[in-house]
Amino acid sequence: MNELLSLLLTRRSVRRYTGDPIPPETLRAVVTAGLLSPSSRNRRPWRLVVVQDRATLEALSHCRQGSAQMLAGAGAAILVFARPAESDVWTEDCAILMSNLHLAAHSQGLGSCWIQGRLRQAEDGRTTEAFCRERLALPEDWALEAILSLGIPAESPPPHTLEEADWGKVTFL
Ligand SMILES: Cc1cc2nc3c(=O)[nH]c(=O)nc-3n(C[C@H](O)[C@H](O)[C@H](O)COP(=O)(O)O)c2cc1C
Repeated sequence: MNELLSLLLTRRSVRRYTGDPIPPETLRAVVTAGLLSPSSRNRRPWRLVVVQDRATLEALSHCRQGSAQMLAGAGAAILVFARPAESDVWTEDCAILMSNLHLAAHSQGLGSCWIQGRLRQAEDGRTTEAFCRERLALPEDWALEAILSLGIPAESPPPHTLEEADWGKVTFL
């Protein structure tokens, strides 16, 4: 089977991690894949923040109401921000980058999960964006797209199957 299709089938959201550290070169390979993503007009409006400090990861696990707890046990988090002034389609650009990070993590044997940041709220009622920006002392003109939690996987959800591809959503004209 084609290598990319095989990766797409076996990629799953992994939310439980062993707690073992992520080798620095592995983390670097994942971030590199994200930075090589395409973007509108090649503007690359993104800003990435890689967090490995345990206390900061624990704090960030409260950035959503119940959807980011896995950060407390993660080996790292990659927060994907953008400067919207640099592109009117920064959300698309950052979503592609997130997807590439997620797939690259899987290809490196890491478990990872997308945590939605944009349009979401933290446990304390602030926006997830303000919560993260203030905790990490980042500039006010940085907008949050999403966070990727990462770690050595402690669970292995079953792969997807080709039968899940819903051809009912495709029209051939
Ligand atoms: C845009 C987007 C937002 C998501 N937000 C969250 C989230 O906040 N927390 C979470 O645990 N999973 C989140 N997920 C993961 C999805 O729940 C998951 O991809 C989906 O259930 C399919 O499962 P799979 O990734 O194992 O194939 C998100 C995924 C996407 C693409």
